[in-house]
Amino acid sequence: MPNGTGEPKRIRFIRDHEKIAAGEVIERPASVVKELVENSIDAGATEITIIIKNYGKELIQVIDNGCGINPDDVEFAFAEHTSSKIECADDLNNLYTLGFRGEALHSISAISKIELITKQNNSDMGLKFKIEGGENVSAEHVGCLVGTNIKVKDLFYNTPVRYKFLKTDRVEMGHITDIITRLVLAYPKIHFKLVHNDIPIINSPSTDRYQNVIFDLYGKKVVKNLIEFEYKDNEMKIWGYLGDPSLSRSTTLSSSLFVNGRYVVSPLVKNAMETAYKGYIMVKKHPFYILFLKLNPSTVDFNIHPTKKVIRFENSTEFLKKLTRILKIKVNEKFGKLKTESRIKEPNSISEYKIGKILESEDDNKLQKVAERQKSSVEDTTNVDKHDMIVKSKKSKPEIGAPKAFDIKLDQIYPGLNGRSKTISEKENPSKLRNLARQSNWIETHDVFPKFRIPNQTSQLNQVYFVLEGIDGFYLLDMHAAHERINYERVLRNFKDRGIKKQTLLIPIKFDVSVNEVEFVKELCPKLSKFGFEVDSLGGSTFIIRTVPANFKKSSDPTFIRDLCLEIISKGKQTSIEEEYDSILKLTACRMSIKAGEEIDNPETVIKLIQDLAKCKNPHHCCHGRPTMLYFDYKEIEKMFHRT
Ligand SMILES: Nc1ncnc2c1ncn2[C@@H]1O[C@H](COP(=O)(O)OP(=O)(O)OP(=O)(O)O)[C@@H](O)[C@H]1O
Ligand SMILES: [Mg+2]
Repeated sequence: MPNGTGEPKRIRFIRDHEKIAAGEVIERPASVVKELVENSIDAGATEITIIIKNYGKELIQVIDNGCGINPDDVEFAFAEHTSSKIECADDLNNLYTLGFRGEALHSISAISKIELITKQNNSDMGLKFKIEGGENVSAEHVGCLVGTNIKVKDLFYNTPVRYKFLKTDRVEMGHITDIITRLVLAYPKIHFKLVHNDIPIINSPSTDRYQNVIFDLYGKKVVKNLIEFEYKDNEMKIWGYLGDPSLSRSTTLSSSLFVNGRYVVSPLVKNAMETAYKGYIMVKKHPFYILFLKLNPSTVDFNIHPTKKVIRFENSTEFLKKLTRILKIKVNEKFGKLKTESRIKEPNSISEYKIGKILESEDDNKLQKVAERQKSSVEDTTNVDKHDMIVKSKKSKPEIGAPKAFDIKLDQIYPGLNGRSKTISEKENPSKLRNLARQSNWIETHDVFPKFRIPNQTSQLNQVYFVLEGIDGFYLLDMHAAHERINYERVLRNFKDRGIKKQTLLIPIKFDVSVNEVEFVKELCPKLSKFGFEVDSLGGSTFIIRTVPANFKKSSDPTFIRDLCLEIISKGKQTSIEEEYDSILKLTACRMSIKAGEEIDNPETVIKLIQDLAKCKNPHHCCHGRPTMLYFDYKEIEKMFHRT
């Protein structure tokens, strides 16, 4: 059992506590909830009730039926570096409990008013202990049930600055629900109840059927589209649920990783999972999964950061290779038989290339061979259905979304513009003169861009780029990036001048989110309305979209609003409301824009696009910082052909 055995142990001072990651872990009400519930789990509780008042700011109460605390140890439990779970840092090599720092109760008691009632099985009486702002207030014997009942009141009452930094009530409640959701997923045999202002939010009775837990938290659609899997060897056990590609989301918020019973976030495991799903889901979408890893405690280090959410794996490169290989096999096994048209081909990322190379070098490994064989059989089927793929590919082309902004200087995009003489003799470049002779055929951009010849027909490459002929070279216009820039500046202007016009949907669209996302989405609803999206809660995890902005594309696509909300939520660190609004505007502009895969066969459309782009304040980059156009110098190309 990763959690405590429930056998009461005495609390001691951790001898070499300086080796344990130190730092403040109580940032918000949800951190208190996490620490208290983890203590209950370590105490072997089978029933844990969490009562929240006023989003955790007034009261956080956790009642468990665990082993309780020895009355003689209660005061000591609130001291620094005291724990019943480890005696010294070496014990971390054999850790089976969630707690090990001996710090949580001490930290919480310093910034709140606590009342704790606890009783052990072998005691006749329990103890009621009060501590406020780190000062003991009272201790008295009382009659009570076995277990621990702790009330944390008035969090941050004596640290007003930290109180001020709390987010809105709904966001704070969203974090609490999120924490409990993860713990419910990790411990299905524990009966968890979460109640807020007397309203039950989560009630998840103990069950042996994991599907029941998923159903309660994510709903029917998710349960029906998950596939269970397991892998075991001498070093590790991996099991969990892999989501069908149709469950992929634009954020990683719904996926969970548990290592030795602890919910953690690991970029390494995320990378392995995303590599395993490559080719099954669209670019910028993330697979849905619930993954459990059971490793020898000596091979995994949770003592990196005081929140224990960050982990380090021993021999992480080897571990990543192995995990990727296993997950790839499992994903191929489970989804390899899907129809070809649901596959989305996409370019290899550098990281995949690297992993691919590593995997290739292990020819002798059976597992790898199986994975490769399965992969090639997938590719074979793709070929059989070639014609179908060509037709379908227009629709299934990955969308170009919003990659990370990066800084590109203008001369990197149009190097031909800088320091180069524009008059070239006929001898040097006869074709140049021919072009100049056709000066009247240039697209007018008032010198915002270099000159492009008006195209007779569109030359669309890879259904994304347009080729434009210039004087000294040619240009590739990224039509999505260009259109996104135009739309971004337009929605921004409209928003500032007169607000965004709405269009009412004839048939309102419903969408569902997970239990842990509900509060966050509710919080966003009034903000979205300012941008033309009227979204209301229908109770439970269901929302309804009544209006969308005028000109909005794909207005019948319910996943968009859900994805938009989740994308904003997952950014999470917006410091100002302006930044949050800007994210909504950017995502709205992105969704209004021509997508990769849309065929544009009218040259007029391209000319209009370029002219509109030229009118933008920043025509050279899309709103996410990518260039709208790239320049290819004929001289460079001639060099490549060894013509010069
Ligand atoms: N609900 C509970 N039931 C039984 N014992 C508890 C409970 N809560 C706390 N304790 C006892 O109090 C001790 C101190 O708890 P605290 O949460 O401060 O430290 P910890 O759990 O040992 O480590 P960490 O700081 O990593 O959480 C625990 O080691 C445990 O013995
Ligand atoms: Mg603890």
